[in-house]
Amino acid sequence: MSKVDPRPKYLSDGDVRKEGAFNKSLFLTLRLAYQPFLIRIFIYLFVGFLGRGLLLGNTNIIGFWVDSLSGQDTPFPGFTSQDFVMVLLFMAILGFLCTFTFRVAFSRLSAKAISRLYDEVTLRTSRLPMAFFDQTPAGRIITRFSSDYGNVFRLFGGPLAEFISIIFDLTMMVILITVANPYYLIFVAFTGILNFIVYKLNQKKLRSSRRELSASRSPSIAHFAETTQGASTIRSFRREKIFGARFERLDRYFLSQKLSTTKHLMSFSLQMSSLTSLLLLVTGVSSYFMIEKGWATIGSVGVAFTFIVLSGNTVGMFFEWLTQFEEAIIGVERLDQYMRMDLEPGAHLPSFAQFPTGHPQYAPSLEQYLRHRRLTEEKSASVQFRDVWFRYRKDLPWVLKGLNFEVQAGERLGIVGRTGSGKSSLIQALFYLYDIDKGQIAINNHLPKLDEKGAGMDLNLYRQSMAFISQEPILFQGSLRFNLDIKENFSDAHIFAALERVGLKAWVQEQPGGLDMRIEERGKNLSLGERQLLCMARCLLQEAPIIIMDEATSSVDPQSEEIMVKATGEFFADRTQIIIAHRLSTLASCDRILWLQNGEIIALGPTSEVLPQFKTTELV
Ligand SMILES: Nc1ncnc2c1ncn2[C@@H]1O[C@H](COP(=O)(O)OP(=O)(O)OP(=O)(O)O)[C@@H](O)[C@H]1O
Ligand SMILES: [Mg+2]
Repeated sequence: MSKVDPRPKYLSDGDVRKEGAFNKSLFLTLRLAYQPFLIRIFIYLFVGFLGRGLLLGNTNIIGFWVDSLSGQDTPFPGFTSQDFVMVLLFMAILGFLCTFTFRVAFSRLSAKAISRLYDEVTLRTSRLPMAFFDQTPAGRIITRFSSDYGNVFRLFGGPLAEFISIIFDLTMMVILITVANPYYLIFVAFTGILNFIVYKLNQKKLRSSRRELSASRSPSIAHFAETTQGASTIRSFRREKIFGARFERLDRYFLSQKLSTTKHLMSFSLQMSSLTSLLLLVTGVSSYFMIEKGWATIGSVGVAFTFIVLSGNTVGMFFEWLTQFEEAIIGVERLDQYMRMDLEPGAHLPSFAQFPTGHPQYAPSLEQYLRHRRLTEEKSASVQFRDVWFRYRKDLPWVLKGLNFEVQAGERLGIVGRTGSGKSSLIQALFYLYDIDKGQIAINNHLPKLDEKGAGMDLNLYRQSMAFISQEPILFQGSLRFNLDIKENFSDAHIFAALERVGLKAWVQEQPGGLDMRIEERGKNLSLGERQLLCMARCLLQEAPIIIMDEATSSVDPQSEEIMVKATGEFFADRTQIIIAHRLSTLASCDRILWLQNGEIIALGPTSEVLPQFKTTELV
């Protein structure tokens, strides 16, 4: 029977590799994360190493003590038992303090380094092209920033110090066994080699099952997020069972993956501990012969035997931790993948971004300059479309086909066309949210700079010159004030004045909290019309020379629409306006109308000519 992939393809995790060695760039990324702390880390490593040395060295002191009691020579001639106890006590206290300092300080720095990594990945992910967000479900991105990052943070922020302690222990043991009795080095080397072989035999299986485990989590989370968002639709269509079953299937797959990873780990752990037991037996028997032959003193055998017992365990722990860290490294690998992606053309990292990943970045002076710069000091600006060909992806059909027109400064342009004719896409293109394959769009004849070497104005500056109400009015979780005035520029009176213009002042005053009323995610606690009106108020507060409205009044009642059309007519009188509407009454006061069909311009002319033409052709 052939194996069926239990994950539906459209819900899979994307293109992370499941096999093979780690990508080298992730180690570079880790180095960058730790870079500012390197000196301190080395100091703490030294302290940690010293601490383990002092604690483990106690065993040797006890060995010498035993030898001195049985009358043999020791490096501490004339030491009484009390002296030995004092040395042991001193070493134990100092060793403990050093180990403690190392653990706490190192873990703190490590946690800081990993949160730096998180910040840098966020800076880049938020600047990826729109096409990435179109093709990647939100749940999948969230998994990278929650469970993958969580794994990395958890393991690097604590257990890493433990893991390093284990390495210190092993190194120290080799040194101390050599001091006690060099013969036993053979046993340690043998343990190491055998464990390494067992680790290597298991490594591939463990690594690929861990990668698959990480990848299997995000589809179920993505599905869960989508289901909660669409809960009302699912209920009204009575599709709970189907969605429940799909979730169960994805979740079962995740759990089976978890089970298989745990199984691999348990079997690995069992192999390791069997090895240790075997080795202990061999060491015990051979020690007896070594004392018999006079190759070792009782004290030194005691020391070596203790260390062999310890080292067997420690070597086992070392390899178990190593496999644990593979999980963290896979997390870093997945974050690193986002970090290395190309940003949206024209986007820059802010000057405070610290990892040199080769992405374009603002110089602090330019950033400062741009902060106060506007595209134009005029109230309005012109827009040029020059033979624009646009599609959402290379493998999709053209949506805009060779558009050529100009919107004059201060002009009111209405856009009409059937559903799917490309009206909203024209706005997406105007914002350069996707690549424009052929042709150019300019504002005041200025092109945005999309290529580091090219000419043109900063993309952000270009976009800031437009205020936009999208077809799906978007509000964010937070207060109403935050939604209207994200940059916190305006007084209450100013905000209320804008609300009054869209006819919402009284409504807001009635709400508990007023301007501080709570808006839920995507504004889902408001009606569509209310959302549109609030977005309009937000637009009023933004003093942009170009105002774009995509179906901004489609969901409000005729009275509200009238208020809005009048308000915008007055308020935006001297601005350039681009208005998309299905309700033709909204467009009556436009200067010109552009009629789109199938991505092409059918007509562009005075409202009194084109609107009746459109009405008779399309609306019969
Ligand atoms: N993000 C996207 N990815 C791929 N194709 C898209 C995307 N958005 C829109 N399209 C496609 O582009 C075409 C034009 O869509 P657009 O949204 O511009 O139409 P519209 O004129 O605004 O329609 P409506 O009046 O319904 O809003 C449609 O065929 C649509 O399927
Ligand atoms: Mg549209």
